[in-house]
Amino acid sequence: MREKPASCPREARLWREEFSVAAGEQGFVERRQFGKFLVLTSAAMFAGQLWLLAKNAYSKRAGGLWPRKAVALERDLAIGEAKVFAYPGPQDNCLLIRLGEERFVAYSQKCTHLSCAVVYSAQRRRLECPCHEGYFSVEDGYVIQGPPPRPLPRIELERSGGQLYARGVTVFGEEESQ
Ligand code: FES
Repeated sequence: MREKPASCPREARLWREEFSVAAGEQGFVERRQFGKFLVLTSAAMFAGQLWLLAKNAYSKRAGGLWPRKAVALERDLAIGEAKVFAYPGPQDNCLLIRLGEERFVAYSQKCTHLSCAVVYSAQRRRLECPCHEGYFSVEDGYVIQGPPPRPLPRIELERSGGQLYARGVTVFGEEESQ
């Protein structure tokens, strides 16, 4: 029960008016504060989800965030040859391989096991990791043998006027979203 404000000194009265909850009702305040906390937290999470959705929608409409980068001239590679290039960043080495007159493929050179650099074996038509004998199919980057847990990320290519451009990276599991 509340004390009578009239019996208190002026400062104590003011203080009680500001915080007008008796000790017995403190539990209600805590529950109310907890309720506020839940509502605010839920609102913040909801706002975060909306932001992510908006960001995703924007990047899809903008055609993704990958740069378009010239990586080689078609005539630079004979059938069965490979060339190293960097994409999307200067440290991200990739392998461009010419499989046929009209067929080029490109993959990240970083092995999905422990990141050793894979090399192309034209003789065996596969990408080989020298560290633990992990082998990848040159057709689609899938693991043929060894410890790598995932296929190699594929570099999307565009051919235009004899020039080859890198246009994006497809990581295993994201194929449907491209
Ligand atoms: S790092 Fe490539 S197989 Fe281990």
